[in-house]
Amino acid sequence: MIGQQYLMLPGPTPIPERVLQAMNRPMINHRGPEFKDMLLEVTKGVKMVYGTDHNLLIYPSSGTGVLEASIVNFISPGDKVLAISIGVFGDRFASIAQNFGAQVQKLSFKWGQAADPTQLREALARDQEKKIKAVLVTHNETSTGTFNDIKAIKEAMQDHPALLMVDCVSGLGALEFQMDAWGVDVALSGSQKAFMIPPGLGFMAFSDRALKIHRRNTNHRFYWDVTEGLKYLEKGQTAFTPAVSLFYGLQEALSMMLEEGLDHIIKRHRRYRDMVRASIRAMGLDLLAADTEASTAVTAVLAPGRSGANQIRNRMLKRFNIALAGGQLELDDVMFRIGHLGYVRELDLLAVIAALEITMLESGFKLELGAGVNRAQRFISEAED
Ligand SMILES: Cc1ncc(COP(=O)(O)O)c(C=O)c1O
Repeated sequence: MIGQQYLMLPGPTPIPERVLQAMNRPMINHRGPEFKDMLLEVTKGVKMVYGTDHNLLIYPSSGTGVLEASIVNFISPGDKVLAISIGVFGDRFASIAQNFGAQVQKLSFKWGQAADPTQLREALARDQEKKIKAVLVTHNETSTGTFNDIKAIKEAMQDHPALLMVDCVSGLGALEFQMDAWGVDVALSGSQKAFMIPPGLGFMAFSDRALKIHRRNTNHRFYWDVTEGLKYLEKGQTAFTPAVSLFYGLQEALSMMLEEGLDHIIKRHRRYRDMVRASIRAMGLDLLAADTEASTAVTAVLAPGRSGANQIRNRMLKRFNIALAGGQLELDDVMFRIGHLGYVRELDLLAVIAALEITMLESGFKLELGAGVNRAQRFISEAED
């Protein structure tokens, strides 16, 4: 098939040519001066994206690795933890905590809905002895295309001393996040989403308050140990061999992000969300998440009759070489997901909507060909930059 695949997943996401070229460089000594300069530069850059002046460690790992890193460094066996879940990744964070000995109380919400901060406030109010040590929550729930209002969640915690630990794996750089201003203690992310580089780097940012708690932590760990990580960072190194080529990519991607400006990036993602949702609706299809809670990184589209989503995805791949994500677990075949984060532009989305219309028509769904594309075109022509 001619041309590159349209990789419309909520991660891994397309890699800009500049980043690919930057990674195609010889290896260097990871304990030498060039790596030190690069490590300090990218640490500063990633902290800027988080909106934090506190601590940041970069691990060779996927997102799940840093979720685990956060648990083993900041949660001790026996600690009570309140885990908010609105989907697959909220459940995963809770499971990791449970696996490492935490007493997990879950606060779950229907898939496709965001967490209700009032219910969190009530749950914490019942904890009069302040036994809950941490609240775990997902920023952007990739499995349902729904985001949680982290600022409102922190406000709902009022003066409860529990750490606020946030999985920002697919949200950071695609929707607003201000770690220090909102009072988040620990925030985890990964390279393969809005950062526009391949999978393989995990980011863990943590406040000085979290660091104090870490000093008394009794959980098992070795590879993930924050004390070691910080000791090496002071020397401009990582504790263990870093993924050097991905650092080259990260350095270039951060330059691109700085050139564009974080505010513009966030606005651009918001526009993608609104454009995709308006076009999907114009085609006569339904969306899983409500407008007020819909992710700017990924849109979950319900298949007509709530089944056959995988067939639609297969057709999109075979006929147009466009890769869409499926629904997970109970949402498998019920819906498909269009990723629109990172190195994506409106023109890509226009093509995806056009291809989707043809695919839906060929699948027997009655629609007026061009209704979605027309809506998308109008959206683009009316949008301000
Ligand atoms: C919100 C969220 N958390 C955690 C993860 C897990 O990341 P990984 O697959 O890189 O381990 C993902 C991956 O898609 C995610 O979207």
